[in-house]
Amino acid sequence: MGKSLLVIGAQWGDEGKGKITNYFSSKADVVIRYQGGNNAGHTIVFNQHKYALSSIPSGVFNDNVKCIIANGVVLNPRAFINEKNQLMSQGFSCNNIYISDRCHVIFDHHIELDRLNEESLKDKKIGTTKKGIGPCYTDKTARIGMRMCDFVGSNFKTRYKELLDIKNQQIRALNGQEIDYETTVKEYQELANMIRPMVVDSIQLINNERKEGKNILFEGAQGSLLDIDFGSYPYVTSSHVTSGGVICGTGIGIHGVDEVLGIVKAYQTRVGEGAFPSELKNDIGDKIREKGHEYGTITHRPRRVGYLDLVALKYSILINGITSICLTLLDVLTGFKDIKVCVAYEYEDQIINTLPASDDVLQHCKPIYKTFKGWDEDISSVKSFDELPLNAKNYINFIENELNVPIDVFSVGPDKLQTIVRKEIF
Ligand code: GDP
Ligand code: IMO
Ligand code: MG
Repeated sequence: MGKSLLVIGAQWGDEGKGKITNYFSSKADVVIRYQGGNNAGHTIVFNQHKYALSSIPSGVFNDNVKCIIANGVVLNPRAFINEKNQLMSQGFSCNNIYISDRCHVIFDHHIELDRLNEESLKDKKIGTTKKGIGPCYTDKTARIGMRMCDFVGSNFKTRYKELLDIKNQQIRALNGQEIDYETTVKEYQELANMIRPMVVDSIQLINNERKEGKNILFEGAQGSLLDIDFGSYPYVTSSHVTSGGVICGTGIGIHGVDEVLGIVKAYQTRVGEGAFPSELKNDIGDKIREKGHEYGTITHRPRRVGYLDLVALKYSILINGITSICLTLLDVLTGFKDIKVCVAYEYEDQIINTLPASDDVLQHCKPIYKTFKGWDEDISSVKSFDELPLNAKNYINFIENELNVPIDVFSVGPDKLQTIVRKEIF
């Protein structure tokens, strides 16, 4: 029987999912993206090279690993081909990529509508990546989207024309830039020709791999606190980021996930708008941002930075069924006199121990901190937990005890080699 492991972001994204998925991909037969799209930016570093992936699963560097873009994903055909071409120019075959016939296609009109929606929200804007993610999932739910099977199908021109007429009406109403049918249809047909050979019935493929006893890695994008249902709504993304998303985003069935590895940054970051109780708008926050290179992989926006939030993390563990934790970017915390951890919130004289539903409430939650002594030793080349300075061990032990989930993996640098596995989980 093969194993399956879900690698999931337990915070607001950018926890190091790409690095860790890639690390475990050497033991995988299949790596699957199941939600989101090219709003994701997953950084992978090995052999002194750095790669940034958006739509393509982080197992792509190994030809023997099947990389599947499953039905829950939204795929921008142009961005996908550009990403694939870039990888091919760097020497990777990319002949291991499979795309679900059921995933939805992001068109230019989705990107234009993303921009217009954000503009019309003014100071209430979400701070999206402007990749058309929300409008594409909106069309999927409204049943006016286009699946990959139809994008590469013989009826594409007619269907696209019908769709675009509707979408251009919406764009006109918002004083946006209408999308020209003639120019775009030609480009989309060329893209469809390139993509067609990769399109498969991913549901059959994934379930057959599972039946054959293959090792499967599910690569989450975004973070659990950005989930459309469980996240800090409305400042969320439009997909099911949490573990349930694997089931509806792949068709693997309810028993398809064996272990859930929550990726947790040793502190907290967020890109875009929304409440962030433990945010540090001061020198300490700036120092962490610079040390951790906390700028968006794709959008290059500076990330908001704060102390680790255990209230949010406990919630994340609960909603995902996280069985094991990987603590990343621990090295970034070297050199701070004190390190704080948010252990509860205070809201209108009450103590709150879980994430409130309302973002308005969360905006007014004040963090209650526990303070730890920092460490100065360079930890970027440690190879085991025992080699860590005592204060780093204390920090990890406290988090582990509070969460009651083992920290089986930790990461002390961006490189694949800077990964320490305390207990084999895959
Ligand atoms: P993802 O979206 O979850 O895959 O994460 P990103 O790639 O967007 O952001 C994580 C950033 O941290 C990237 O620049 C990684 O190269 C980097 N990174 C990952 N793990 C570590 C670590 O343990 N230490 C340091 N210093 N950087 C790390
Ligand atoms: P990875 O996979 C961090 C955020 C955006 C915005 C909100 C909605 O690299 O962790 P969207 O474009 O999805 O409609 O934007 O979600 N967001 C991310 N933040 N990491 C990501 O992906 C993100 N993908 C979307 O900044 O706040
Ligand atoms: Mg990222």
